[in-house]
Amino acid sequence: MTEINKVGITGANGTVGRVLMEGLADGYELTAFTRREVDFPSKIVHFDKAGEVAGAFAGLDAVIHLAADPSPMAAWEQVRDHNLEAMYQVMEECRRSQVRRIVFASTNHTQHGNTILTTPETLDPAKKVRMKLGDRPNPDSLYAVSKLFGENIGKLYSERFGIEFVGLRIGWIVPENTPLVMQGTPAEDYLRAMFLSHRDCVAAHRRALEVETKYTLAYVVSSNGRRVFDLEETQAELGWAPEDDAETFFGG
Ligand SMILES: NC(=O)c1ccc[n+]([C@@H]2O[C@H](COP(=O)([O-])OP(=O)(O)OC[C@H]3O[C@@H](n4cnc5c(N)ncnc54)[C@H](O)[C@@H]3O)[C@@H](O)[C@H]2O)c1
Repeated sequence: MTEINKVGITGANGTVGRVLMEGLADGYELTAFTRREVDFPSKIVHFDKAGEVAGAFAGLDAVIHLAADPSPMAAWEQVRDHNLEAMYQVMEECRRSQVRRIVFASTNHTQHGNTILTTPETLDPAKKVRMKLGDRPNPDSLYAVSKLFGENIGKLYSERFGIEFVGLRIGWIVPENTPLVMQGTPAEDYLRAMFLSHRDCVAAHRRALEVETKYTLAYVVSSNGRRVFDLEETQAELGWAPEDDAETFFGG
């Protein structure tokens, strides 16, 4: 199998995109995709517009698909256009352009219904809850439902068309790269559980491009003492283990 070298990154000027554009630049030939002109070279494509997407991925070995409305509060129209329609268009363009692999930014929110809706005690560090990838989803929002659609259309296209698919249930990455940004706010406990450092994010995406697989789902959170996700299966299947821990920022 030839190595993956030419990699497109959609949503390249967002929070995650900027981290990956910098962190993966030494190992891959990157093509950035953005919605508008930005302060680095990029191809402008609106992924919810079929006519703009056709041909966009010609020559790429892999696509890291980040472009989406990332808000759990997003209204239906935003989710429909930027997460559902755009996801379908990206998958179709991967099929047409024979892109070998897609790495998809899914989310912890596919199971966050457990933490905020049904069993809020999940975030209590004393309970030491560890959810598993195979647990039944519990989406907390239309946003989360759209990410489950992404994981599942990935499965369909991997089975039907042989596109390799790696879905990453990302925790919470912040531009400041520290969980202290939420200290003293109602979101502190959540960020302490879900924190994802920039270097852990880059290393996980590197593995997602390299691991031998047809279809993989994985958690991408740092090795937080208060994490609520069981990382065992991720470590075995993705061959990646995080290095950072939100607790060290709090003196833990
Ligand atoms: N930041 C996090 O902690 C986090 C956690 C879990 C999952 N994710 C996922 O990772 C991805 C990136 O998140 P982020 O925080 O960098 O978001 P962001 O909003 O900073 O970046 C997303 C980018 O996608 C672009 N975009 C949106 N719709 C588009 C469209 N139709 N066509 C072209 N470009 C479009 C936006 O212009 C933006 O630059 C998202 O899919 C998000 O759901 C992020």
